[in-house]
Amino acid sequence: MIERPQERVFVTGATGVVGRAVCDGLVDRGIEVVALSRRGRSERPGVCFVQGNVSEPGPWQEALEGTSGVVHLAGEPIAASRWNGRVKKKIRSSRIEGTRNLVNALKRLSSPPQALVCASAAGFYGPRGEELLEETSLPGDDFLARLCVDWEAEAQRAQGPKTRVVSLRFGMILSLQGGALPRMLPIFRSGLGGPLGPSGRFTPWIHEEDAAGLALAALGQQSPSWQGPVNAVAPEMLRMGEWARTLGGVLGRPARLPVPEWALRLILGEAAIAVVPGQRLVPRAAEERQYVYAHPELKDALRSLLPLGS
Ligand SMILES: NC(=O)c1ccc[n+]([C@@H]2O[C@H](COP(=O)([O-])OP(=O)(O)OC[C@H]3O[C@@H](n4cnc5c(N)ncnc54)[C@H](OP(=O)(O)O)[C@@H]3O)[C@@H](O)[C@H]2O)c1
Repeated sequence: MIERPQERVFVTGATGVVGRAVCDGLVDRGIEVVALSRRGRSERPGVCFVQGNVSEPGPWQEALEGTSGVVHLAGEPIAASRWNGRVKKKIRSSRIEGTRNLVNALKRLSSPPQALVCASAAGFYGPRGEELLEETSLPGDDFLARLCVDWEAEAQRAQGPKTRVVSLRFGMILSLQGGALPRMLPIFRSGLGGPLGPSGRFTPWIHEEDAAGLALAALGQQSPSWQGPVNAVAPEMLRMGEWARTLGGVLGRPARLPVPEWALRLILGEAAIAVVPGQRLVPRAAEERQYVYAHPELKDALRSLLPLGS
């Protein structure tokens, strides 16, 4: 929780799943929000939209002046389509060059913000089987892992005597507004759902309310302060088999038909790694800061999004 109201916070990716919830949370706390969007529309009360693309330097960088915090969430969707050279380049450049443009602008400010809270992903660790992964664990070595390493390194350049940098390593974010869940629902509702890939693989997840809640907490000034990487996942870490059964149970449908990994690879190619992650994350940093989850358990998280009869 933010203990001291901050004057103005700059949010990138403000039209996305987490961005919308972060903007709402800031507005609720009486904080002025300046939001960057390529569309530049003002579609949320209390939010001032600035048109621009974080991937390209531009006049939007001037809107960072006078902000006391920055939440950076913008980036090309990761698992929306098969990865080819062009898609990978967009995924990478929107995050690496985007974060570089943002940090370059922060470094030019006479009064830099107190915190830069930047998205990253559980994919930082790569597939790791049974290993318990805390924030100090080593990264993986696939495309997604290398992307996260470089993304976090770009954000880290903003760290200084006046600015803390926090990288939120999000698991699969549960929302009806975007991400994986809306794409899984039709098949699970038809009774043809089941584990995606091997049912024994751990599947890190987090409810959208907690994804935004962690971003807001990381902006604040509580002690110990938030700094460095944070495993932004719910404490209940389930294997894919239990995960699929829980979703089926909430929908009142069987969920016994597995989608083999080869089929996911056929549809998504290399991007299948983002769907069947296989990471057993421990949210140690959030626990140490006594973050109180709104939805620590999957069944309750899914029920909050999919009330009975929905
Ligand atoms: N959702 C998940 O399950 C998940 C899991 C792990 C990590 N993450 C990361 O967490 C961050 C926030 O996730 P989210 O689900 O809220 O994202 P999202 O809904 O996909 O929204 C991201 C926003 O980024 C902007 N954007 C998209 N493509 C862009 C591009 N090529 N260049 C510049 N800006 C672009 C868009 O805003 P405008 O169109 O308004 O410019 C969009 O609303 C993302 O960086 C994502 O990779 C998400």
